[in-house]
Amino acid sequence: EKKKSTLCGKRCIVTAGATIEPIDPVRYITNHSTGKMGYAIAAALRARGAEVQLISGRTVLDTPVGVERIYVLSAEDMYREATQRFEDADIAVMCAAVADYTPAKVAEHKIKKSDDDMSIELVRTKDIAAALGAVKGDRVLVGFALESDAGVKSAQSKLKRKNLNFIVLNSLTDKGAGFGVDTNKVTFIDSNGSQSLPL
Ligand code: CTP
Repeated sequence: EKKKSTLCGKRCIVTAGATIEPIDPVRYITNHSTGKMGYAIAAALRARGAEVQLISGRTVLDTPVGVERIYVLSAEDMYREATQRFEDADIAVMCAAVADYTPAKVAEHKIKKSDDDMSIELVRTKDIAAALGAVKGDRVLVGFALESDAGVKSAQSKLKRKNLNFIVLNSLTDKGAGFGVDTNKVTFIDSNGSQSLPL
């Protein structure tokens, strides 16, 4: 299908995939995000003529043709790349599943087990979408949300808090939605209301 070049000359950044928060040289904390959504959006923006930078956590996916990929590991790395690159961007789409917490310190050596239980102290990461929202001016900022219940209400409060133009609500429970599938079922939400799309 030939796409109209409606985004010709627009510069877009897209965050995608999961971040990796190291515990020690061997272990880390991550999540089930595969990056599929963000990579598909990067390809779609490119197909419409945009110049796309894809800030990606670890994934098995190939870089979409014509897209510049920037690989990052942790939430902190993604924050740095996204805030820097947003300065020259017109549009930012925040698809990444960014860790909300990261280990307070990374052990220099592999942690040895003992007979006792253990706990790891976690500290909050920076909210990348909110940081871009705070400086966005007339740039377009799109967020995603994954909600298992009370979706629309909670997404609307996120929209306000992060100063997003709109938010795409993903369902974990709908058939054909969720992690690692090639289909999705989403609801678009802005300050005027919401619109649910078919699969
Ligand atoms: N986001 C981000 N930086 C973070 C956390 C989230 O840029 N440190 C972005 C995500 O890429 C997504 C949106 O913010 O666009 C998701 O918002 P978040 O508040 O994290 O929502 P959920 O993770 O869906 O839900 P919860 O409130 O339960 O954490």
